[in-house]
Amino acid sequence: MNRALGVCYYPEHWPEEMWAQDAAEMVAAGISWVRIGEFAWSRIEPEPGQFAFDWLDRAIDVLSRAGLKIVLGTPTCTPPRWMLERFPDMLAVDAQGHPRGFGSRRHYCFSHAGYRRASGEIAEVLGDRYGRDGRVHAWQIDNEYGCHDTILSYSEAARDAFRSWLAERYGTIDALNEAWGNVFWSMEYRSFDEIDLPNLTVTQPNPSHELAFRRFSSDQVVAYHEVQVAALRAHTDAPLIHNYMGRVLDFDHFEVGASIDIASWDSYPIGFLSDRLDGSAEHKARYLQQGDPDMQAFHHDLYRAVGRDGRWWVMEQQPGPVNWAPHNPAPLPGMVRLWSWEAFAHGAEVVSYFRWRQAPFAQEQMHAGLKRPDNAPAPGLAEAAQVGREIAEMPQIALQQAPVALIFDYPSDWAWATLPQGEDFSYFRLMLDAYRALRRCGFSIDILPSTVTDLSAYALVLAPGLATVPDALQEALAQTVALVGPRSNAVTEELRIPIPMGPALRGLDVTATRVESLPPHVTRAVIGGGTVQHWVEDLDGTAETLLQAETGQAVLKGNRRLQYLGAWPDADLWERIIHGLAKEAGLTVLTLPEGLRLRDTATHRFAFNYGPDLVEFQGKTIRSADVSWWGI
Ligand code: GAL
Repeated sequence: MNRALGVCYYPEHWPEEMWAQDAAEMVAAGISWVRIGEFAWSRIEPEPGQFAFDWLDRAIDVLSRAGLKIVLGTPTCTPPRWMLERFPDMLAVDAQGHPRGFGSRRHYCFSHAGYRRASGEIAEVLGDRYGRDGRVHAWQIDNEYGCHDTILSYSEAARDAFRSWLAERYGTIDALNEAWGNVFWSMEYRSFDEIDLPNLTVTQPNPSHELAFRRFSSDQVVAYHEVQVAALRAHTDAPLIHNYMGRVLDFDHFEVGASIDIASWDSYPIGFLSDRLDGSAEHKARYLQQGDPDMQAFHHDLYRAVGRDGRWWVMEQQPGPVNWAPHNPAPLPGMVRLWSWEAFAHGAEVVSYFRWRQAPFAQEQMHAGLKRPDNAPAPGLAEAAQVGREIAEMPQIALQQAPVALIFDYPSDWAWATLPQGEDFSYFRLMLDAYRALRRCGFSIDILPSTVTDLSAYALVLAPGLATVPDALQEALAQTVALVGPRSNAVTEELRIPIPMGPALRGLDVTATRVESLPPHVTRAVIGGGTVQHWVEDLDGTAETLLQAETGQAVLKGNRRLQYLGAWPDADLWERIIHGLAKEAGLTVLTLPEGLRLRDTATHRFAFNYGPDLVEFQGKTIRSADVSWWGI
């Protein structure tokens, strides 16, 4: 496995006289990749059809002469102002019906046919010029689909495209009315042209309508993306990459990933802890300057599954305080290095820092880089350089398949976001809780899509919250020890209650006959230890009751190979459940000090101390914000 460092650089932000020195310093820090261009459309095509490539040619020349490999971005997430004259109706529209205007970025609707064409054209122009240029070693398409909440757009373009999509999916309007149950509240349509987008309704729209819109919106991202893929493939054999985000689930990343070569993601551990994670005030204080101990690893494992043949990068790594979270503390000394090594231990080929130098202007002037705005080194630079030296010295690390898998499914998130039943029911939170529980027991984990059909190589598989369990997956689950639930196989793909009611799993007589959602801080004790919270099901059926709440409700039912969990466990209960499953699966459970996490490769065990205190583990002493590894 190769390992390398990269950095995000904006030559258009700096006087040309600085470029050569910047490039030399990057190389001196052990950086070998540089990503450029992804926001530079107004400099590449200042007027429609008039291209200015001289500066970009020179930037590529200077950077590659210094020994850097270039990732060139297509600039389609920042269409220039003149694009709006060409397509006044290209803006995305929010759920309140307001256009999302020019003056920042991502101001386009995925469904706008004209803008989609224009995106293909600029990719084509860039591909034509640089596709066979040996200095451009990889391409990034667009930047962070979904950033700033931009997947769902309620524009006229989206409405028209949605109607065609519905006609294609359902064939006849009667089939749609039947599938959605539109007899309810006289919502029946006489033709596809009568169907609007599911916003601005008096109260909640039909959940089937909303889920269909979410499926459609995801398909629009895929279709938009594939236009650029096709344009670039015609000109280049270099790998195509997209940079995904943390906890953005509004489109199916597996489907976007299917047409490109490498998945990458943008990792901002401290920003996420503040902005995007549930958790107690105590948890957030403890990890304030480190980030949540499982959030990064979760996404590393997820994007390893999204990348073709497991290929993935961190395209943007937080190097210091960011600007966009409610509060923006600095990383503890050591964390930039720890995050970088954690990514490599999970299989990243490249960890690329965002950004080289902090910009003294515009929206991100408060966002740290590896260098300060005045060009002095920022604290992150020395840590990056240390990682640069270490990866040069470290022998190859071979990855291996993890013993445990977690099934992750984007449409399940859309289903539960549409029909939460309890306002804090979050698919992501449920998945992260399950993942965290496994990691606290010391396991390395592979995340897999719900389309997987062979699980025979895994000792244990978890599929919580999987809204609809495909038949092939049910069969695959029978090859291993598996935990399903809560809320798994609970609805059909149209978001209706199936009859017979779920989970109706093959070989397991369990039915969830009633569900309750509970407000935060309400817990119900489970006999023998732990509690359930948020979500509790009444379970019926002949399967053996393995765990029971003090209310008498069965919490876990099943047999030695397949178990159904009918509630949302707290950390202690998760631990009990995992211990039980691990025993059936023949896996050894470890007890880790608080904040310590492991990752096993074929050759090494890595240990990451996210906690504030020094820990002792397996004969090693690991300081706070430090990483340690040893051969296994
Ligand atoms: C990412 C984005 C970058 C930059 C960065 C700041 O979401 O891709 O362009 O905005 O965040 O943290």
